Amino acid sequence: MPKLRLDKFLRDQGITSRSEIRELVRKGMVQINDNVVRDPATHVITGSDIVKVNGEEICYKEYVYYMLNKPKGIITATEDRDAKTVLDLFPDSIRRRGAFPVGRLDKDTEGLLIVTDNGAFAHDLLSPKKHVKKLYEALLDIYPGEWSIKAFEEGVDIGGYIALPARLNFISRSCPVIAQVEIYEGKFHQVKRMFKAVGATVIELKRLRMGEVWLDKSLRPGEYREMTDEEIAMLAR
Ligand code: URA
Repeated sequence: MPKLRLDKFLRDQGITSRSEIRELVRKGMVQINDNVVRDPATHVITGSDIVKVNGEEICYKEYVYYMLNKPKGIITATEDRDAKTVLDLFPDSIRRRGAFPVGRLDKDTEGLLIVTDNGAFAHDLLSPKKHVKKLYEALLDIYPGEWSIKAFEEGVDIGGYIALPARLNFISRSCPVIAQVEIYEGKFHQVKRMFKAVGATVIELKRLRMGEVWLDKSLRPGEYREMTDEEIAMLAR
């Protein structure tokens, strides 16, 4: 089983900042297997040693994976001087782990956004070679016509670039006009530009699914939950 220095173990779990760890250890507030530890360099065997801070057990997680229902009005970034970011919706312990959003949704887009600290997982999910499918639901200003389904299937020109074939389906053709589109890439403003190419404007946009993982309907905008092992495995495939 992997061994880690106690200070690294605590930092990796986002428990506290580097300077505070020394202080906690110095004050005798950290225990390994019920023994008070005085040296931050003490080794912890992850998965077998029980580490407690202030009497509370710290469950070791190599990585964290969250499903966020991104609300409108918040930018997809880890930090920003002026604007509120999706990471501001998470507690310090998650931010300290170095968690970040996988890919990006526009400020006015809502829906499924994955937040993790597993760089390799995120890299794979975003890799253009993987063509991970993404399902969006769009509220449109007009019904562009049945021909747009074929146009999306063949690949529309989004301004000097022909989008990969996408699956378009209309949930409602009259007011409110609602469409669902499944795309296999993630260019800047991709869905909005695709609808523009067939003469419609996206008024609202929501991501419903990535790969086979659906946005949990019980999450209201701004809420998040840990992903299940099954969901993580579905995206890691
Ligand atoms: N396509 C867009 O136009 N915007 C998003 O936020 C995501 C996909």
